[in-house]
Amino acid sequence: MPLNAVALDAPARSLFDPAPGLAYLDAATYGLPPRPTVAALERALRRWQAGTADWVEEWDREGEICRDLFAQLIGAKTDEIALLPTASAGIGLVAAALPEGTEVVVPEEEFTSVIFPLLVAEEARGVRVRQVPFDALAESIRPETGLVAFSLTRSQSGQTAPLGDIVAAAREHGAQMLVDATHSIPFVPVREHLSAIDYLVCHGYKHLLCPRGVAFLRVRRDRWDDVPPWFANWRSGAPLYGRSYGGPLTLRPDAARFDVSLAWHAWAGARPSLELLLGWQGAELDRVWDLSRRLAIGLGAPEPTSTIVSVAVADAEAAEAALLEAGVKCAARGGMVRLAPHVYNTEEEIDRAIAAVGAFLA
Ligand SMILES: Cc1ncc(COP(=O)(O)O)c(C=O)c1O
Repeated sequence: MPLNAVALDAPARSLFDPAPGLAYLDAATYGLPPRPTVAALERALRRWQAGTADWVEEWDREGEICRDLFAQLIGAKTDEIALLPTASAGIGLVAAALPEGTEVVVPEEEFTSVIFPLLVAEEARGVRVRQVPFDALAESIRPETGLVAFSLTRSQSGQTAPLGDIVAAAREHGAQMLVDATHSIPFVPVREHLSAIDYLVCHGYKHLLCPRGVAFLRVRRDRWDDVPPWFANWRSGAPLYGRSYGGPLTLRPDAARFDVSLAWHAWAGARPSLELLLGWQGAELDRVWDLSRRLAIGLGAPEPTSTIVSVAVADAEAAEAALLEAGVKCAARGGMVRLAPHVYNTEEEIDRAIAAVGAFLA
């Protein structure tokens, strides 16, 4: 269902329904859906219940539209984007294609959905994973490094890696790059460095405000033939909707060959979220950066390098529970309280969170 003009013109905040009195500052765990997203999901469920849905036009093709919307968000070409259910599925696909003996540089304490598939490749196929300090990623790349794989923005701290430095080091030593931008997009731009990034994954249920199960893998054109499309299925066959039985193997010619077969309703819900985010680029998304800076200043934290602000507290789990009692929803990660605003938050909520978290600061 296309968004109507009213929704696109409305101030972003007016399109959300967080619980009354709740300052929801946890987009890094899951982002809240805007009302048009909930309406799209409800419509899909109702028409499924009634048996009246045209599954191709109403559900399956929504994935094709989301492919294009995500490409626009990051500045990629539509034909470079594959549709996946998780970030780890994309990382696993790349890990499974690494030649034996490849050295992979990964930051210490990397999120498991990034490092586990690479460790599986180490166990199964002799890939060598070298863990290095997050702050030393760029200088740790050396001539024998085949791939550097990392979360551009770390989920436990919100720190964003110095992408320009890593790109320069990878270029110098001929290493490929696999970037998990789940906590970066749509706030931290990747556009400028996209031509240097071989593979980029992003799960949409956090800062992209999509249902869980909507993830993207961007495979740069010159890597399409380097990765076997192990998830091949009826919908990654060419032509789309034209291959249901038997061989030969005729897959779509572009990155759609890496698609999974879609969990339909999630993609119907994702479309309005992505359309809205595209419209919010500029003033509305900049306002979220302002909220994060306000949080960081109020909590005495360094200038944020993503919209996530994390601060050390004596007992993060206890603080998370107490803050929820006080109407502030955040998360305990790595001994820190993690706060992640989005377009639905207000300055008043930020100030309330500063006062509440301030009581727990270590
Ligand atoms: C950096 C990062 N990548 C990916 C994910 C989600 O992983 P997956 O898509 O495998 O569920 C998370 C979830 O917290 C994350 O922090």
